[in-house]
Parts: sequence; C-alpha cells; structure tokens
Amino acid sequence: APDIPVANVQAHLNQFLSIATANGGNRAHGRPGYLASVNYVKGRLDAAGYTTTVQSFTYNGATGYNLIADWPGGDPNAVVMTGAHLDSATAGPGINDNGTGSAAILEVALAVARTGFSPDKHLRFAWWGAEELGLRGSRHYVTALPAAERTKIKAYLNFDMVGSPNPGYFVYDGDNSDGVGAGPGPAGSAQIEQTLQAYFTSIGVPTRGTDFDGRSDYGPFISAGIPAGGTFTGAEGTKTSAQVALWGGTAGAAFDPCYHRACDNLGNVNATALDRNTDAIAYTVWALAGAAPPPG
Ligand code: PHE
Ligand code: CA
Ligand code: ZN
Ligand code: ZN
Ligand code: ZN
Repeated sequence: APDIPVANVQAHLNQFLSIATANGGNRAHGRPGYLASVNYVKGRLDAAGYTTTVQSFTYNGATGYNLIADWPGGDPNAVVMTGAHLDSATAGPGINDNGTGSAAILEVALAVARTGFSPDKHLRFAWWGAEELGLRGSRHYVTALPAAERTKIKAYLNFDMVGSPNPGYFVYDGDNSDGVGAGPGPAGSAQIEQTLQAYFTSIGVPTRGTDFDGRSDYGPFISAGIPAGGTFTGAEGTKTSAQVALWGGTAGAAFDPCYHRACDNLGNVNATALDRNTDAIAYTVWALAGAAPPPG
C-alpha cells in the first residue's frame, strides 16, 4: 500500500473549513455547508475516474445525502466498502469530527486511482449524511440495500475522528478480545481488527480496543450482519495517565476538547495521528481487497 502524504489530507481539511466558513460556520445536515461538502468530494472523485452516486433521504424535514463512489473493476460479488460521515454538528465546522475521516478516506480513494490499483475485490467508498442526528444516512443506505447486495459486502471500514488533538490509537474491538465491545461482531470483524492492528504494529505504535457498540456509521452494518471495523482517536473521553504512558499527550484532558464545539477547526487536529490513521486505512484497504480469493 502507498504511504499517503498527510499534506494531501490536510488540503481537504482546508477545503472543509472554507466551506463551513462560507456557509454559516458548519457543515450540518440540512444546511448549505453539507451539500457543498458533498459537491467538493464528488468533484475530486469524478475527476479521478470513480462512478459516483448521490443518494437522497429525508430526515427531520430536510433532505440528506449520501455520496457513494465505486472504483470500476474487481469482483462485483465481493465488495470492500470504506465510509466516513461528512456532516458536522451544528455548533462548528467539524474538522476533526469528521473532516478527518472524510478527508482520509478521500485521499485513500484518490491514491487508488493514482496508483492504478486493480484489486481482486470491488472497492466502494461512502460519505454519510446526518450521522450526528442518529446515523440517519448510513441506516438509510443499509435499509435500502437488497439482501443480495448486503451479502456482497465482505467488509465495511468506518473512520469517525482520526486526528484528535490529544490522540489515542483505538481500534474497534470487533472480536471482543479486549472485552470492551458489546460482544463479538459479525464473523470477519476480527480479521478487519487484526489487519488494522498489524499496520500499527508495523510502525511501532501500540493500540487499544474501543467500544464496538454502534456509536457511529458501522452500527447499521453490523446490525445487518456485515463484518466491520475501524479506528478512532478519541472524543470527549479523558486521557488517563496510563494512556499517556503509551501514547504521550496530556493526562486528564479530553482526547478532543473541541468535540462538537465551534473550536473544532484546523487547530483541532494532530497531524501525526491523522497521518498514521490514513496510512492504516490504505494498508487495510489494500490488504483486504488485494488478496487473491481462496481456492475453491
Ligand atoms: N459518532 C460520534 C460522533 O460523531 C463519535 C464517535 C466515534 C464516538 C466513534 C465513539 C466512537 O459524534
Ligand atoms: Ca503517511
Ligand atoms: Zn463523528
Ligand atoms: Zn460528532
Ligand atoms: Zn479485539
């Protein structure tokens, strides 16, 4: 997998901030900054050769949008899907939550195109609407998918907050081996967790498990029996001194002190965490999609 330049990811964050600033300070569901964000991401993907679809839904009297991007080729019956929510909370521009996940997966998608990656499995990327109002976009997508299409999705990778300023390196506990999940996820979730962990091990960064309870857009996927996984650098929770011993940073402070606040801007991102997580996404997409299917 390629090493993704973090400057490319940061350039997308600059665009998300400009969009928020030009649209009343946020990129929230039902507000103009949300659709402007969709159009920015769609434009980059279309130019790179993706097949994009905008799926509309209605929530709370407003139209919401999911952006779906398919990379042509690969086994149509074996899909590796990667997603992030593109909406912000109404209080601010949502740069860590979730500009970081949105920008990281966008840059991985663009790296697929740049490198001419031709995986065995089919690659699909998604930017979800209205996560902040209760996973509305991702739930709409999974609910609307025919059962035959659901079973084709072999893995769903979710990235929600991957550049927290006082970061932890958390991997969703898909196998419940850390005992912090809500029980093991669908079969295959363990392999996703182990692949993400393998990347961090390769760069010498320890990880810890985090809740696999559905508090982000992977929830509707695991409810439908689709294997899932992802990473997270922390939200309103407080970093402990034991976590500082592992990762550095500030004990007794939140992983993200600007969570759902107006100050979730460009200064609210740790570039090292963003870089490592983006590279972990690329590693995992390449590993899960590129392997030859087992014989038989
Ligand atoms: N989904 C939460 C939000 O967007 C953040 C979160 C992500 C919390 C992952 C826990 C785990 O506000
Ligand atoms: Ca990198
Ligand atoms: Zn979020
Ligand atoms: Zn949020
Ligand atoms: Zn585990």
